[in-house]
Amino acid sequence: PLVTTTEMFKKAYEGGYAIGAFNVNNMEIVQGIVDAAKEEQSPLILQVSAGARKYAKHIYLVKLVEAALEDSNLPIALHLDHGDSFEICKDCVDGGFTSVMIDASHHDFDENVKITKQVVEYAHAHGVVVEAELGRLAGVEDDVNVADKDARFTDPEQAAEFVALTGVDSLAIAIGTSHGAYKFKGDPYLDFDRLKKVGELLPNFPIVLHGASTVLPEFVAKCNEFGGNIPGAQGVPEDMLRKAATMSVCKINIDTDLRLAMTASIREYLAKNPSEFDPRKYLGPARDAIKGMVAHKIKNVLGSSHKL
Ligand code: G3H
Ligand code: 13P
Ligand code: ZN
Ligand code: NA
Repeated sequence: PLVTTTEMFKKAYEGGYAIGAFNVNNMEIVQGIVDAAKEEQSPLILQVSAGARKYAKHIYLVKLVEAALEDSNLPIALHLDHGDSFEICKDCVDGGFTSVMIDASHHDFDENVKITKQVVEYAHAHGVVVEAELGRLAGVEDDVNVADKDARFTDPEQAAEFVALTGVDSLAIAIGTSHGAYKFKGDPYLDFDRLKKVGELLPNFPIVLHGASTVLPEFVAKCNEFGGNIPGAQGVPEDMLRKAATMSVCKINIDTDLRLAMTASIREYLAKNPSEFDPRKYLGPARDAIKGMVAHKIKNVLGSSHKL
């Protein structure tokens, strides 16, 4: 059966590595990721956003992940990414997920605690684990000052209080990452001092890093070479992710790198083979591109190879 993240996070915390949480939206994405994890013998989190549920339908994604489980024999957790209400979290708990994220970080602290607590109570009663978020995910510009950081990034003392008040199983924090392909205007920067402080105040507690794609230059270049237009894209350097993984970060979220790998491959194929129109001809290589990228992440960045 699908597993929760409890055991994988415990081992990851102790072993100084992180589990990759990859966003899935269709069959080729699921297969590319799972084939890589199978080759690397790595535990895996497959996550589904509200947008993914809208695009592919809840039931199709659950069945694809169940097929992946049967095909791979890996410990796989099925996770809701950025649930924004109790209702969507309940839907996913009731609908076969083993982990849900309640993201009430746009509310004030007390309201975030209140909504998160409600989700924790329901999810735990059904054997499902919960991730929450505190702080605002935003890119850091070149000249960010201390006051800016304190306003946007997660306060370590508040994080400890939040965890104690809610009973949540893991926490996403803001230390400089952001979603998408344009994370930094100047040099990349993550607030490792803040991450360290969170780790000291919350010993043995798994931290989650959102917005953790690297925006690999080879895929950006390939998109732009074959008709794309994504100038100035920049992500989190892999050595920073590696460092975070050795610390309390146990879950690293990757979606943009999947999108770029897939799109670069499809653009190249269609540009070079203008008379082909069989979707398998371009979706096959796209799946292979995802597999290669994910295997690289698992082996060289997350450190979760052979950790079953
Ligand atoms: O958090 C953002 C993830 O990349 C999911 O994106 O909401 O477009 O599916 P999405
Ligand atoms: P990226 O956009 O950096 O891939 O982040 C994905 C994410 O955090 C999903 O929740
Ligand atoms: Zn996210
Ligand atoms: Na870790």
